[in-house]
Amino acid sequence: MSQASNRDLITGKKPHLMIGDVPIYGDLILAPMDGVTDMPFRSLCRRLGSALTVTEFINAIDVIEKHPRYHKRLAFEPDQRPLSLQILGEQPERMLTATMRLVNKIHPDIIDINIGCQSKNVTARGAGAALMKSPKTVARIFQLMTHTFKLPITGKIRLGWDQDQMNYLEVAKIIEDNGGAMVAVHGRTRKQAYRGQAQWDPIREVKQALRIPVIGNGDVKTVSDIHAIKESTGCDAVMIGRAAVSNPWIFSRRDREDVPWGEVKRTIFEHLDAMIDFYGERGLITFRKFLKAYVKPYDLPSELLLSLLKSKDPDFIKSNLEDLSVNE
Ligand SMILES: Cc1cc2nc3c(=O)[nH]c(=O)nc-3n(C[C@H](O)[C@H](O)[C@H](O)COP(=O)(O)O)c2cc1C
Repeated sequence: MSQASNRDLITGKKPHLMIGDVPIYGDLILAPMDGVTDMPFRSLCRRLGSALTVTEFINAIDVIEKHPRYHKRLAFEPDQRPLSLQILGEQPERMLTATMRLVNKIHPDIIDINIGCQSKNVTARGAGAALMKSPKTVARIFQLMTHTFKLPITGKIRLGWDQDQMNYLEVAKIIEDNGGAMVAVHGRTRKQAYRGQAQWDPIREVKQALRIPVIGNGDVKTVSDIHAIKESTGCDAVMIGRAAVSNPWIFSRRDREDVPWGEVKRTIFEHLDAMIDFYGERGLITFRKFLKAYVKPYDLPSELLLSLLKSKDPDFIKSNLEDLSVNE
């Protein structure tokens, strides 16, 4: 019996989509973001409705060289499955060796290939979005991975390297033809990085051209954007990245202005505690970007804001927020 039918019998629920034989119960997914979507934030977003956990990219070289920095990026709780392990690299054999080690260590449900990272030190060596320029390498990676693992292998792509090389359809088809189980499309080229407006029309083209599920991504910020991208592209699910940092409730289909301060405050406290549990003292510093985003809508007096963002004392932050009355 497949994982899907087994679980359907228990829950009585139908999955929104299948990635290979992995059922996905929901159509909203937190997008992987290096330095942002760590275990505490992934966990919060899952509780609020994100249907899949995707790790920040794991650099194959770090795994081969046994660099300790990648360990924390792999952390997850059992209730955060299904778990997709995202691998970054440009040498198929090395990526395979690294993935084998990680599969034996954490037993992910899905393996995702990063074909979108735009940072210069990644693309300079041919990894991330630079793979868009090397469809043969993408084919080789998927051949090796799908022949080695029984797990679904997926790819997260961009539209191309730049507007003169928009080969998203070619790369998406290569992924499908070489056994890939899903393609996520970020509607920008590498050259655009995160600038300008994401294009959704190419996502529709990919959806129409493939049989495997397609996930749409780029500039989904509100509940109405979720409807709009689904309507205009027909995508099977939606990935949300930056907007989730200021509004993780988007995974419950709630816009930020619809979440009352009491609930925001409770979430801030829980998130802060989880960060300190996970990272120790430096968790508070790592939390500052989230705190800034959580309180942004309230226009706090700049002195108070600065003291909160500079504080090294979680109790100071909590007591100040506890006493705060905000305009909603
Ligand atoms: C800070 C940051 C880090 C990112 N790191 C990753 C990553 O590790 N892997 C990946 O596939 N995409 C990464 N992305 C891209 C996002 O997953 C997503 O495709 C992009 O932000 C567009 O979606 P959005 O408009 O909803 O933010 C990153 C984006 C940002 C802003």
